[in-house]
Amino acid sequence: MRIFVTGTDTNVGKTIISAWLCYNLKASYWKPVQSGTIEGCDSAVASDLSGAEIFPEAYSLKAPLSPHLAASLEGVQIDLNKITPPLTDKPLIIEGAGGVMAPLNNKHTILDLIAQLKAPTIVVARSTLGTINHTCLTLEALRSRSLPVLGVIMNGPKNSDNKEAIEHFGRIKVLAEIEPLTPLTTKTLSQLPFPPSLHELFV
Ligand SMILES: Nc1ncnc2c1ncn2[C@@H]1O[C@H](COP(=O)(O)OP(=O)(O)OP(=O)(O)O)[C@@H](O)[C@H]1O
Ligand SMILES: [Mg+2]
Repeated sequence: MRIFVTGTDTNVGKTIISAWLCYNLKASYWKPVQSGTIEGCDSAVASDLSGAEIFPEAYSLKAPLSPHLAASLEGVQIDLNKITPPLTDKPLIIEGAGGVMAPLNNKHTILDLIAQLKAPTIVVARSTLGTINHTCLTLEALRSRSLPVLGVIMNGPKNSDNKEAIEHFGRIKVLAEIEPLTPLTTKTLSQLPFPPSLHELFV
């Protein structure tokens, strides 16, 4: 079983939540396209936080920019045909880059990568103001391409009004709400309750 973890934006918590999913589901982790390696790699963060098996990126780009721009700075064109999922018997958590419309090259966005990998998605969303709009737009984009969405995970201070609005206007279930962790460590991440509904996604 594969799950593609996408989000409403960059920096919304996809890596932290991917690590949390890997830890609890005993899953492996794969970030097919990484940009911004001069600032750090999501694979290293996911490994440190979850201890998960990590598969190497298909593209690892230095500049902290949209993948299409980071690639062009290195004279590289991201080719979807060269992004093949690793073979594993374990569940696989795949982390996207940025949000669903982040460009990979002049033709393709993350939506095309999700379609190619045929993995159902989880959308990571901020819990704070602006999230209803961003989350509903992300869901619309996924549905416009008939890409299955398992649910939304909200990240940030609990906001039950925003949760209800996302469920109502987005016609979707919020699978979990992750509060800010201080400090952010394997221990604090592993102590977060893991809802049975998330385990059930994998049976
Ligand atoms: N629940 C949380 N508690 C504490 N820190 C968090 C939490 N969620 C995210 N962060 C911090 O916020 C920053 C952004 O999170 P993260 O790297 O997971 O975002 P992302 O969506 O994966 O970004 P990218 O698009 O670059 O992959 C990181 O520094 C991360 O440690
Ligand atoms: Mg990330």
